[in-house]
Amino acid sequence: MEQLSVDQYLFKYKNYNFTKGHTTAEYIDSLQTFEIRDSDIFLVTYPKSGTVWTQNIIISILEQDTDLPAYPNNSKQMPWLEYREDPEDYSLRPSPRLLASHLTPTLLPPGLKNKRTKIIYVMRNPKDNIVSYYHFCSIFAGLETPKNFEDFLDQYLVGNVAGSSWFDHIREWHAERDQYNILFLTYEEMVLDLKAAIIKICSFLGKNLSEAVIDQIVEKTTFKNMKNDPKANYQFMPEEILKGQFMRKGKIGDWKNTFTVAQSETFDQILQERLGDMGLKFIWDTELPPQP
Ligand code: PPS
Repeated sequence: MEQLSVDQYLFKYKNYNFTKGHTTAEYIDSLQTFEIRDSDIFLVTYPKSGTVWTQNIIISILEQDTDLPAYPNNSKQMPWLEYREDPEDYSLRPSPRLLASHLTPTLLPPGLKNKRTKIIYVMRNPKDNIVSYYHFCSIFAGLETPKNFEDFLDQYLVGNVAGSSWFDHIREWHAERDQYNILFLTYEEMVLDLKAAIIKICSFLGKNLSEAVIDQIVEKTTFKNMKNDPKANYQFMPEEILKGQFMRKGKIGDWKNTFTVAQSETFDQILQERLGDMGLKFIWDTELPPQP
């Protein structure tokens, strides 16, 4: 079971970088026999793509008609499968189980390929993703504080960060989409029309909620309201682990305040080389694309 140390904070196992102290190679291997239920709901993302936002939306939708067990916060209600803050046996949780993950398809339980279990995959434009990740590394004790943005960008481009390569994550999940029952969403579509995104999620989850309830969920999950929601804003994490605001800006286009023109152009070129054949469309700022 070869496990390589990437730096003081990360270890590489099966070609994926995990944060040290939060999981083990043995546990990651055990996911290969983790029993999946048709009723499970998975949220999968590359880090800093809108996970806790979508987590809050899914929980808010489910609690309308489901007796979810009471947990003190969203992180306990919909935990990350691969990280084991308090080692809980998720096979003992009642259905429907809500689970989040930053893993790639090969590392997740093969049972997810039953095509019945629902997976919601959220992607964010990579420049905003990088800037969000860069700031997070400075406030999260489990990750190395970057020397500067340029250095972090270099590490990100070679996948030398927790979660490994953003490019590989996007490619693998899109390439294997036919093997799963999966809804792809983008962070940007959620920012531009949160209500439409929530309706999409409801429809995928088979939840027929009234317009009034949908409006309440929209209200509850706006950036402003989530920032003040102690169950959802991650301020519940001890200060020695998270020494800053998890809910930082919540915007499209913040990358323009950090990237230089040269960095942006180089990134565009790399994006084209790495994923250009996939025909993905990214929204880079809040201006809507031109209408035909
Ligand atoms: S993590 O650590 O991987 O779980 O991070 P993740 O939740 O994927 O991403 C964090 C970013 O999502 C933003 N966020 C939101 N944006 C808009 N609206 C709402 N309601 C919302 N909730 C969280 C959060 O602020 C992080 O983005 P940045 O750009 O850093 O603000």
